[in-house]
Amino acid sequence: MIQNIIIPITIIIHKICKAHVWTIIAIDRPLRLGMDFAGVGMVAMALRHLVTRVEVRFVSELSSHCQTFLRENFQPRQVSGDILDRNDEETSFVDVLSCTPPCQDFSSENSEGVGPHCKRGRLMFQSVRWVRRRRPRCRPRVIFFENVKGLLSKSSRRGGRKMVKRVTKLLRACGYEVHWKLMSASHHGLPQTRQRAIGVALLREKLVRNFTWPAPCSLAYSVTDLQDAPQSSERPWTSPKMSTAAGKARVRILIRKALRESAGKQRRSHSKPAFLAVDIDCSVRFQRWSAGPSLFCVTASRGRSGGPYLAHRGRRMSRRELSWCMGIDIDSYRASMSPNQWGHAVGNGTPLCLTERVLAQALMAVGILSPNAYFDRWEEGEVLPQWGLE
Ligand SMILES: C[S@@+](CC[C@H](N)C(=O)[O-])C[C@H]1O[C@@H](n2cnc3c(N)ncnc32)[C@H](O)[C@@H]1O
Repeated sequence: MIQNIIIPITIIIHKICKAHVWTIIAIDRPLRLGMDFAGVGMVAMALRHLVTRVEVRFVSELSSHCQTFLRENFQPRQVSGDILDRNDEETSFVDVLSCTPPCQDFSSENSEGVGPHCKRGRLMFQSVRWVRRRRPRCRPRVIFFENVKGLLSKSSRRGGRKMVKRVTKLLRACGYEVHWKLMSASHHGLPQTRQRAIGVALLREKLVRNFTWPAPCSLAYSVTDLQDAPQSSERPWTSPKMSTAAGKARVRILIRKALRESAGKQRRSHSKPAFLAVDIDCSVRFQRWSAGPSLFCVTASRGRSGGPYLAHRGRRMSRRELSWCMGIDIDSYRASMSPNQWGHAVGNGTPLCLTERVLAQALMAVGILSPNAYFDRWEEGEVLPQWGLE
């Protein structure tokens, strides 16, 4: 009898204020997250800025250093190494699943990349398979994908677009609407020209409003702010390449070339040279430098060698400065990795601004995040503590 009354009333309330009811349910418990190819967990870092509580249910990550970092900072319930060895039966329900597989096979910087034709290039399908195996009611509301721009670029002959089409088709069949876009971190507040292919899949039956991509915003801070940063107490590290005579000579050539080129550019624009970050781990032909406001893209290999050289400081970036160029306030995390391991991991990382701004829109679309509760810190320029507070 009571059931006959309660159930219709619940259905009516649900229909009248669908979004509102879901928001209340969602903030009643922690958001449950699963991260495939988790790295240092940029997705969890981003979500911690969007919702009050995040519970990391499972992660898959090959690198033992990253696994330690994830355990120390996010306490995942289940950690698997190689995703291919994971027992899917042991994983539990999540609201959000992230899938950010290794990108070497779609990267234009890797001349040997073979796209989805090799085992590594097909890893994205592991996450899709996990979703397909779950009962429809137990599928995540949001799936977030990230990879290098080669995955979506029309000119790429590595088969990335074919794979995207296949993934999209499989997820549509599971009840998702799927969106893909090429995005640049420097158009969304982070001072680094880091272009990424971003994908979002939203469970259709949970949609409470349309999904829209976040609008571009101006930089939340400039990389030239590093010129005012206090001299770090951390010792910047040097790469083995710099310790040999030939290595030192090459580095000198690279720095002089960047100084010459940037001075020429500044003379033409009548501005004063103040900040100069130089890539010193490349050949002279492919050298990059930046006088601000955005830094060139720091890849995993560049990060591992110690990050860009700050010509105005006469040293490499410190670990804190490199993290800062990725939008990470390293003081909020326990990082027991060596500087080189950390550099490699953040060089691999998903840009925090893109992850956060895209996930905010996705969570609002599926009713987990209330638009009134969302503060876009990238648009408002309130991302990191001031250097002076160090
Ligand atoms: C592009 S990075 C992801 C970075 C991550 N999104 C972050 O924010 O730090 C890809 C990660 O996948 C990991 N990986 C590569 N092959 C894997 C596999 N078979 N199983 C699990 N993780 C793997 C790598 O160690 C690397 O950390």
